[in-house]
Amino acid sequence: MTDSLTVRDNRTGAEYEIPITDGTIKAADLGQIKLNDDTPGIATYDPGFVNTASCRSSVTFIDGEKGILEYRGYPIEQLAEKSNFLEVAYLLVHGELPTKEQYDHWVHHITYHTFVHENVKAFMQGFRYDAHPMGMLMASVGALSTFYPEAANISDPDNRQIQIIRMIAKMPTLGAWAFRHAQGKPYVYPDNDLSYAENFMSMLFKMSEVKYDPDPRIAKALDTLFILHADHEQNCSTNAVRSVGSSQVDPYSAVSAGIGALFGPLHGGANEAVLKMLRRIGNKSEIPAFIEGVKNGNERLMGFGHRVYKNYDPRAKIIKKACDDVFEVTGVNPLLEVAQELEKIALEDEYFVKRKLYPNVDFYSGLIYEALEFPPEMFTVLFAIGRTPGWLAQWQELIEDKEQKIARPKQIYTGDRQLTFVPAEERWA
Ligand code: CMC
Repeated sequence: MTDSLTVRDNRTGAEYEIPITDGTIKAADLGQIKLNDDTPGIATYDPGFVNTASCRSSVTFIDGEKGILEYRGYPIEQLAEKSNFLEVAYLLVHGELPTKEQYDHWVHHITYHTFVHENVKAFMQGFRYDAHPMGMLMASVGALSTFYPEAANISDPDNRQIQIIRMIAKMPTLGAWAFRHAQGKPYVYPDNDLSYAENFMSMLFKMSEVKYDPDPRIAKALDTLFILHADHEQNCSTNAVRSVGSSQVDPYSAVSAGIGALFGPLHGGANEAVLKMLRRIGNKSEIPAFIEGVKNGNERLMGFGHRVYKNYDPRAKIIKKACDDVFEVTGVNPLLEVAQELEKIALEDEYFVKRKLYPNVDFYSGLIYEALEFPPEMFTVLFAIGRTPGWLAQWQELIEDKEQKIARPKQIYTGDRQLTFVPAEERWA
């Protein structure tokens, strides 16, 4: 067996041997297939990259058919149950689990970089009272590049490390302040005695008490949600981070682009959309009419379907369990019943079965966030905090990958050519 394709160009009769490596062919190898020397070679057309690998990566493995997700080879179920978010962040960024000393050092550094420059606070306070927290997060992460101009020196590994630590550390501070801003409440400074998730809760919810006392069950659920969101290979926002990062810009600018991508309703914004959808459906009796509307193509069942998973999203299973822990503290959310019934009906309906549409991570995460009294606008901010180590691990991999180039896709030009420009005064005369 030869690991190659023999391609015959039926226009010319010429045959080409294209090597196959790791189940892929190099798109550039198709460039040699030409009608003649004056015409461009064959390219691939792949909107949305549905069948194009853009990089080699050792960060995250997904088998969408089997519903498998692993970070650096460790199954997500084991990490969610037995690890914690900062250890998982270390694993993603460094490629292996930390020793005790490495872990303590990592946690110490992240904890002590949670504060931001006072001017960042003033910058955030400049937003309108009703600014969307994702817009605030995107802008303030981008603004950090002006506070750390040395971050532009991306070829220095030590410099990259400190920016990675800063970003993982400061993301909850910025996210929590965006939340407080919308409520007109004073911003709360980080409390370095608390764990990552507890400190985030303190910055979100602390009022006049001297010290915030987080419920450990809620802190654990938040930590688990951060783990579940920590990476997901070449998704839309990671692709945005890599694409912008390929210009060799600083990591704050690259991650800020990722936050923009995550904001969209087909990506991280889906959890917000799920909750709005559940509220609109309101009660179980309305579900059949809603499902009919989805099947007629009027709208999508948000929180269902995935580009990669054609089976149950393994993260959705873990989140469903975390729901129980949170509802034990907060009481049951009435929308949970609507969600459960919707899931049951959709999983049996031929439309969804045929298209392999299963609940994804966002189907249940929104219910937890609502039970914790987050407004829907905050949901994607929580996703962004969790995804930060993944973006940074992927960004670092990109920087170290000698095969990478500036992202610059081809296009199929469909417009006019060679028109003659007539000045406005003549056209409008
Ligand atoms: N509700 C109804 N029909 C759907 C849905 C849905 N949620 N998702 C896909 N379909 C249908 C779609 O209409 C198409 O049908 P047909 O073949 O008859 O045209 C078929 O299923 C294939 O869909 P697609 O749009 O080609 O699939 P895709 O891989 O391009 O899109 C997706 C993936 C996640 C954007 C899509 O499933 C979707 O819009 N889901 C709802 C939004 C959502 O929950 N997004 C969160 C994704 S998980 C979190 C994250 O990683 O960001």
